[in-house]
Amino acid sequence: MLGLTRERFIFVPHLITMSSAYQRITVTSALPYANGPKHIGHLAGAYIPADVFVRYQRLKGADILFVCGSDEHGTAIPNQALKEQTTPRAIIDKYHAQIRDCFQQFGIAFDIYHRTSEPIHHQTSQEIFLSLYNKKLLTEETSEQYYDETTNTFLADRYIVGTCPKCNHPNAYGDQCEKCGSTLSPRELINPRSTLSGKPPVLRPTKHWYLPLQNHEPWLRDWILTSHESDWKTNVYGQCKSWIDAGLQPRAMTRDLDWGIKVPLPDAEGKVLYVWFDAPIGYISATRALFDELASGKHQFATPQRSFANAKSDDWKKWWQAPDTRLIHFIGKDNIVFHCIIFPIMLHATGEYIVPDNVPANEFVNLEGDKMSTSRGWSIEMHEYLEDFPGRADELRYALLTNLPETKDSEFTWKDFQAKNNNELVAILGNFVNRAVVLTQKNFEGKVPAAGPWQPQDLAVIEQLKALPGTIAQSIEAYRFREATAGLIDLARLGNKYLADTEPWKVIKTDPDRVGTILHLALQIAANLAIVAEPFLPFTAEKLKKLLGLSALPWDEAGSTTLLQAGQVLADAPLLFQKIEDDIITRQLDKLVAKKKAAELAAQPVTPLKSEIVFDDFAKMDIRVGKVLQAERVEKSKKLLKLRVDIGLEERTILSGIAEHYDPATLVGQQVVLIANLAPRKMMGMESQGMILMAEDKDGSLRLVQPNAVVAPGSTVN
Ligand code: 2FM
Ligand code: ZN
Repeated sequence: MLGLTRERFIFVPHLITMSSAYQRITVTSALPYANGPKHIGHLAGAYIPADVFVRYQRLKGADILFVCGSDEHGTAIPNQALKEQTTPRAIIDKYHAQIRDCFQQFGIAFDIYHRTSEPIHHQTSQEIFLSLYNKKLLTEETSEQYYDETTNTFLADRYIVGTCPKCNHPNAYGDQCEKCGSTLSPRELINPRSTLSGKPPVLRPTKHWYLPLQNHEPWLRDWILTSHESDWKTNVYGQCKSWIDAGLQPRAMTRDLDWGIKVPLPDAEGKVLYVWFDAPIGYISATRALFDELASGKHQFATPQRSFANAKSDDWKKWWQAPDTRLIHFIGKDNIVFHCIIFPIMLHATGEYIVPDNVPANEFVNLEGDKMSTSRGWSIEMHEYLEDFPGRADELRYALLTNLPETKDSEFTWKDFQAKNNNELVAILGNFVNRAVVLTQKNFEGKVPAAGPWQPQDLAVIEQLKALPGTIAQSIEAYRFREATAGLIDLARLGNKYLADTEPWKVIKTDPDRVGTILHLALQIAANLAIVAEPFLPFTAEKLKKLLGLSALPWDEAGSTTLLQAGQVLADAPLLFQKIEDDIITRQLDKLVAKKKAAELAAQPVTPLKSEIVFDDFAKMDIRVGKVLQAERVEKSKKLLKLRVDIGLEERTILSGIAEHYDPATLVGQQVVLIANLAPRKMMGMESQGMILMAEDKDGSLRLVQPNAVVAPGSTVN
């Protein structure tokens, strides 16, 4: 079906199976905190599955919107600013750009990637807050909150750590235990302490606005526990059920903080909206921003989409308020409660908004046997992968897709990544396409040969080819993306096996017409791969389309054996994938270990101060600058070097424990600082006449303390 026009493609009638009453789909992926780089576990959890789903639906011709953006509030931001000694604004600007660019390079095809620091988001969040307030759905309560008397601040949940009451993890946060995943409130922590001062906080009264979640329980039970028992994932349903069964509590929707969205009430000085109140509203404000941009002609889609033709500013409402809109939130498991309970209650209570049809949350991806964590250095950040494997986004998409934590935590290992690349992408998909194209170039001048009569062998393959896209589609629609990806590789496997069974390279000597038929069918399979691969491996699908001279084809064309016409000229065969050798993997493993070590060191506390001394104690020391004249190793000692040092008045022999840190030859001529009046000490049978001053780093490495310009030997240090 060559030469398909864009109009034809756009107006292909679509069928949103499973929920045919829906007219359009709004898809969201969790807004990542713009407080640091995001790792490949995040990518696997909430972004790649959503992208596969959205790309597939777009190919089906569905009206679909895919929104995301940066979560730029909450304590995580000022916290990071403190660490990087900069402002919260500088932090969000830096990481928003970094994360947005990484997503783009991984092919995550958002319609908009917005920011919660934008005025339209502040406005939308305040409107929703006021809508709840005016309906008297928020309660005002003064309660005791933890306060750090050293820093004079109320402590946000993330600034309080203590022992988890559920699993005894000693470093649980005030809102969540990262070990057992429990959602907590600060008062539940055992032995709480402030992360700002390290001291136990005190309780002080402060006023806040609460959403009494318990008032919405009957509706929530009905909506989740009754209506979604069979279609929500068991991990998601289970978490919701245990939350509801445990008894819903009022939850504060405001915080004492100077970073965030101001509470839009007169008596709310110094108060901001709780980050989990405003962040999910970010999906809505992103949609508003998109329609504002569309209406004013500022936003152009790479591929024009029917749903946004002649858009008006107000059209955002349809995507969030029309009952025939199907809302789907893609998230990681730590966000379930917020997306299934708190945010839906907020939306439902306004009386204007729809609630999600599904929240297909994923579990976590572990890395080489341990939990992935940026702060512990045990992670592969998105930007690190892109720097080390430029132009190879699909390879990681594939490795993650085949290993998604859909029902339980999964494990990423570099060896598995290598195996997936070499044994599946290179050996099956790449090899099949390459063989089909190279044989066509060699025997048919690079043009798709005409097909003769199908033989039973061909018909069996055609049968399977027809069935596979439907199977893959079913898996995608049921949010089973691992299974769907296996279907994609099965299609390539079908082509590979067909060539292996029919052996066109042998048959060519006796029956070139038969080879024409075989290659015709093989190339039709490759053309099918160009459609079916698009949701999973968008960059590869693009290459395939170029190679085969195909324009955009809708999903419903997949399964066909008439995608290519005889005579169609093929482009030069690109190598779709390249083998990854062992040394590349070893380097990544070494890098990971080094990163972890560096993070451990950075996290180590600085050596505590010694007790105070008086000036006279200091003045007793005679500290001088000396110049090293000779340096040599001390026999049988790993640590000691023997130095001959000119101290202006005389030459001294000094033994110094720096043999593991300096090559003796490099020390000759160097200036050193030494205590010249320290009583001589015997070491390894020799006398040391002084002590050289060294700076000891966190990792135990030693560096000479030196004046920053040359001074005469014997100069005093005061
Ligand atoms: O857990 C997180 O990274 C949050 N920033 C997710 C927010 S999702 C949504 F509510 F915006
Ligand atoms: Zn715990």
